[in-house]
Amino acid sequence: MAGNVIRVAQELPGWVVTEVRKCCRRRLEGRYFTDPEIFRAEMERFYFGMWVCVGRSEQIATAGKYFVAEVAGESVIVTREEGGGVRGFYNVCRHRGTQLCAEPTGEFAGRIQCPYHAWTYGLDGRLLAAPHMEGEAFRKEDYPLHAVGAEEWEGLIFVYLGKEKTALREQLGDLPEKFAGWGMGDLRRYKIEKYEVKANWKLIVQNYNECLHCPVLHPALNKVTNYLSGDNDPAHEGYIGGSMLFRGEAETMSVDGVRRRAYLPGLNAEQRKLVLYYAVYPNLFLSLHPDYVMVHRLWPRAVDRTEVETEWLFHPAEMAKEDFYGDDAVEFWDITNKEDWWITEQSQKGVSSRGYIPGPYSKSEKLPAEFDKKIRGENKGVLRGEP
Ligand code: FES
Ligand code: FE
Repeated sequence: MAGNVIRVAQELPGWVVTEVRKCCRRRLEGRYFTDPEIFRAEMERFYFGMWVCVGRSEQIATAGKYFVAEVAGESVIVTREEGGGVRGFYNVCRHRGTQLCAEPTGEFAGRIQCPYHAWTYGLDGRLLAAPHMEGEAFRKEDYPLHAVGAEEWEGLIFVYLGKEKTALREQLGDLPEKFAGWGMGDLRRYKIEKYEVKANWKLIVQNYNECLHCPVLHPALNKVTNYLSGDNDPAHEGYIGGSMLFRGEAETMSVDGVRRRAYLPGLNAEQRKLVLYYAVYPNLFLSLHPDYVMVHRLWPRAVDRTEVETEWLFHPAEMAKEDFYGDDAVEFWDITNKEDWWITEQSQKGVSSRGYIPGPYSKSEKLPAEFDKKIRGENKGVLRGEP
């Protein structure tokens, strides 16, 4: 009997130790959601050790356009060079370290000039001019901007700030083939919304990856999709996700389930019946619908605070139509998002309590359980006393 029992409350001072039967995988302990040390280690591992999605290619459609991404406290300039390639640089001047770009978006006139003493860089990061530095010992080629990895996939821009860079393709695994039918690279942003969620980033990932809460929390969503339908993929090193089916006559996720746009042109008959939900580590959620795509990007700002960017992408041929309408999808997901953020904040409050003891996952919570397993593995060695 002893082998079938675990002690679950032993860390709580003054509490009677509770014993429960071992039955299934348990959720992460509270400190994973509240400990700044774990948060810092996770930022190091996930945000500086992986490719992170920062935006859309169309934000920098032409050479010189730029935007600034805030990646785990680091400011990164993302721009396009003359040859068409995307480039990323730390937003730090090589002279005295001043931030080069104060505005979140803009366009360089062919060069990047520091507003302090006018050191000037090319769009490829080379130092072109350094006033008052004439002298034999100074060589401009020794002071390019510090570059970060920057690549594009299907209209999404990723940067890599770590030291041991693997190819973006390697991190994505089989997703490029799996998602080819949705043609995300051809789609264009219709709207972007920014949310601030007072919760740890992992609670948002866990919540996105199960729909057992849908009948309780999302009355509108539950009308158009069957929360027990669809299949999950086996967990992959770089992502977790799966599919869901529509309910009744519904053809897409919108306020009434009505699809007001043509199917995305690359989809086959099977794919038209599905919504795919994938959490691509560390910060990208892709929700692929028959007629549009929704993208979430997670920006953890503190152990208990995460900013979320949500954008809705549609096919340009549909957007060009006079009677194009996309707000049914935006409105539907804006309501659903806010319901999710609210419950996630409630979760943050609960797991921060001394009364929180990790509860068991059901079979239908396989994806969050897989995510927790990954988190435990990645945090090994960070946590004192963790098995
Ligand atoms: Fe940038 Fe001096 S700090 S030019
Ligand atoms: Fe939800």
